[in-house]
Amino acid sequence: KELNDLLIRLENVKPSQNAYTILKDRYFLKDENREYLENDWDDIAKRVARHVASAEVLYTDDVEKIREIENIYYRLVLSRVFLPNSPTLFNSGKTMSRKIFTKEVKDMIYEDYKYIYDNKGKHNMLSACFVIPMEDSMEGIFNAVKNSAMIMKYGGGVGYDFSVLRPQGSSIAGTGGKSSGPISFMNVFNVSASTIEQGGARRAAQMAVMRYDHPNVLNFIHAKKNNDGKSVLNYFNISVNIDNPEEFLELVNEDGELSLIHGGKEFDKIKAKEMLKTISENAWKSGDPGLLFLGRHNKYYAMSEKTPVRATNPCGEEPLPPYGSCNLGSIDIAKLINDFDITRENEVFKEIVYWCTRFLDDVIDINVYPLKEIEEMSRAQRFIGLGIMGLADALYYKELPYDSNEGREFMAKVTAALAYYSHVSSSDLAKERGNFPEFENSKYPKAFIPFPMLKEDYMKQWNEKIIEHFNSEAIKYKRNVQTNTIAPTGSISNLADTSSGIEPNFMLAYIRYMTDKEGNKVPLPYINKVLLNKLNSHMTDDLEAEIIEKGSLKNINGISEELKRIFITSMDISPLDHVLAQNAIQSYLDASCSKTINMPNDVSVDDVYDIYKKALSLNLKGITIYRDGSLQTQVLTSNEKK
Ligand code: CDP
Repeated sequence: KELNDLLIRLENVKPSQNAYTILKDRYFLKDENREYLENDWDDIAKRVARHVASAEVLYTDDVEKIREIENIYYRLVLSRVFLPNSPTLFNSGKTMSRKIFTKEVKDMIYEDYKYIYDNKGKHNMLSACFVIPMEDSMEGIFNAVKNSAMIMKYGGGVGYDFSVLRPQGSSIAGTGGKSSGPISFMNVFNVSASTIEQGGARRAAQMAVMRYDHPNVLNFIHAKKNNDGKSVLNYFNISVNIDNPEEFLELVNEDGELSLIHGGKEFDKIKAKEMLKTISENAWKSGDPGLLFLGRHNKYYAMSEKTPVRATNPCGEEPLPPYGSCNLGSIDIAKLINDFDITRENEVFKEIVYWCTRFLDDVIDINVYPLKEIEEMSRAQRFIGLGIMGLADALYYKELPYDSNEGREFMAKVTAALAYYSHVSSSDLAKERGNFPEFENSKYPKAFIPFPMLKEDYMKQWNEKIIEHFNSEAIKYKRNVQTNTIAPTGSISNLADTSSGIEPNFMLAYIRYMTDKEGNKVPLPYINKVLLNKLNSHMTDDLEAEIIEKGSLKNINGISEELKRIFITSMDISPLDHVLAQNAIQSYLDASCSKTINMPNDVSVDDVYDIYKKALSLNLKGITIYRDGSLQTQVLTSNEKK
């Protein structure tokens, strides 16, 4: 009943004009003459819910039950409490009979759902995240180029581990030639990506990973040195993987050396400190490379013994084994925060998480995978990534500063609730549908907990519930190897009119320009709705203009210190506080999260170096920094800084 009331209220809130501009440009289905087949958010909610619910034919022949499930999915999406990742929004029901998708749910018969399930095709690819393996041979490399092109074409992002490739200058058997090395091959992938528009709707995205001890690691660290955001490996994020961050940090502190090796052979030695400095210099300059700590991920990944993880998807939130894929979905906690307390046990939140988990599990079944190997891996381990968005706005509502102990306590508790309920849901689903096929080969039967948790007293209650879950009967059952990921939600947070992922708001008001299909720049003015709400009658046209001008409240006269403290924005949060927020959240995620440690323009290389050192010592699975103004193509800039 409570959930019903909440959904009724939220279903009546229409997406904003900005959200509709994006929907019209990228999300509404069109026919082959580019005529719109959809023009309302309701159309998308219906199409997506129906398509995904049709996976239920695998588990029941009770059409009444499938209709009910479709209706719940529909209401969660329509109310924008939950949004799946963009490929699910783009590709559900695509190229299928419109007749079935425009029927009233009460008129749906079992054969309709069966029709959708049986007629899915390559256009119905629903996942955002992929990792494909690299092989150290010409054929292997170009096979990977082809495979990744197919994934990107349908809207997925791809990551690769380039450490597999032999170093530059190594001999090539049979030709007497020398290898041109991993970086030159990265350029081939970059050119391939540059020719692909994902799902016909957006720019392709890739992640290149290299181990810290690969002989070409310095070339890799410098690979985007001359990046102007437009030309140098611009379809890549790059990250250096330090498998054992504790050991690496010790080497840095002792000023020790490490060996650069490939194929068991040592090529060179380098001081760990020098490597970290070089990484810091480049990241200071252009944001790349970031760091990944995939050994830490493997420690908490239930299948690491059989299929260790060596790369992540493009934005880093989803570490995956070779041929792994993951479909994501995000709950907007800002829409829930005023109705109940998500930081404590709560039946409504539990129910929402259950349906979202079931939705994402259904996506695994209805998904059409771009490669046979990906299908096998995805079905064997059943990765799903349920996360949150709207954290910053939720903190505004709760009047908790992002950079305070209370703020971090909130973040850790919300993530713990998400993790606990989604794992309980995954176990419940397994009782009904069976364990993920590799369950017996995983660490779960040994009562293993897939994230580290925080030691703070205030987490005691959640920690106890979590420990009990992973030790109890429930652990005979697990439907999904991983359940939680926090995505950037770069597009879907705009559709939901909420703050993105777990990031603080970059600005409280701004004008963002979107380039439409015809190449026109469309202004999308934005002002934070929680702030508008709080200022209420105190908001004047002059004040609004000043907030748009300055982006934050910091330098505005007549605003109380308390309000300035609560409505804090990204650039006014210290880098350390960004890292501590990431740590609070990461401590309860079995996969990872997308987070940028934003730094002011005037930080030094040493500041970056210190932040990297801090990251090495916490629970983080990686770190990405960005210094304000370091790239010309930055998406958002505050007017004041121009
Ligand atoms: O909000 P939306 O669902 O569109 O995506 P996101 O949360 O910003 O990004 C989630 C994931 O989608 C990324 O980590 C990439 O794997 C993939 N992605 C992509 O392939 N290409 C893009 N242009 C954006 C995202």
